[in-house]
Amino acid sequence: MALKTPAEITAMRPAGKFVAGVLSSLRDVAREGMTLKDLDAHAHRMIDDAGAHSVYLGYHPSFGAMPYPGVLCTSVNDAALHGLPSDHVLADGDVLSIDFAAQVQGWVADSALTFQIGTQTDEATRLIDTTEKALAAGIAQARPGKRMGDVSHAIGRIGRAAGYGINGDFGGHGVGRTMHEDPHVANLGRAHTGMKLQAGLVIAIEPWFMAGGDGYTIDPDGWTIRTADGSIAAHAEHTVAITKDGPVVLTARD
Ligand code: MF3
Ligand code: CO
Repeated sequence: MALKTPAEITAMRPAGKFVAGVLSSLRDVAREGMTLKDLDAHAHRMIDDAGAHSVYLGYHPSFGAMPYPGVLCTSVNDAALHGLPSDHVLADGDVLSIDFAAQVQGWVADSALTFQIGTQTDEATRLIDTTEKALAAGIAQARPGKRMGDVSHAIGRIGRAAGYGINGDFGGHGVGRTMHEDPHVANLGRAHTGMKLQAGLVIAIEPWFMAGGDGYTIDPDGWTIRTADGSIAAHAEHTVAITKDGPVVLTARD
């Protein structure tokens, strides 16, 4: 597990800013009638214009039925994670999660957000707000002197208190020159347990909650993770550097 020097964390800032800017832009342009592929093309243009590099396109872990076909994960309604940018036409009320990572000047940043297209429902607003709150609570624990279990516990507590489904199988991870590094950052855990957090550790913290139960299914594509009960899901993620002064959110959006 590689710790970064302060200079390396500074060098990761352009990647963080770029990923944040793409997500803000996608949120601005996403509307009813657009397809998920349209959003993917929008992000792809921004990558090309910036001279950045997609870390999703062509990524092929053993579980994928095919190499990853886009630069974004676009997960709608009951899709929670890893939804493929398809021909799905965004409809009023769709709950859209966008997960985006890219490499800029040799360093990666990874971030996700969830929002609703058009009419805002109370159910989706509460789920999205709670997921954001859990992310903020996890980030607040990301400081030297705390343990990884403190981050996991802070996230899981907020999801459970709201009555949401949480599944521990997918979570956050170290981030550096590549998208996935050690350690794993679980969304459920016990306070005061796990590895000690040190300055120089850079991690993606990424709660994802389901409005219903804890179960999920995986589509035949091997990628798309859906709630087992068809309920909606939300996902929020930031890449966070742990420094002696506390957490620095590299993917903060203005
Ligand atoms: N950003 C996702 C994560 O949280 C990974 C996406 S996998 C990809 O770790 F294949 F879609 F790229
Ligand atoms: Co991630």
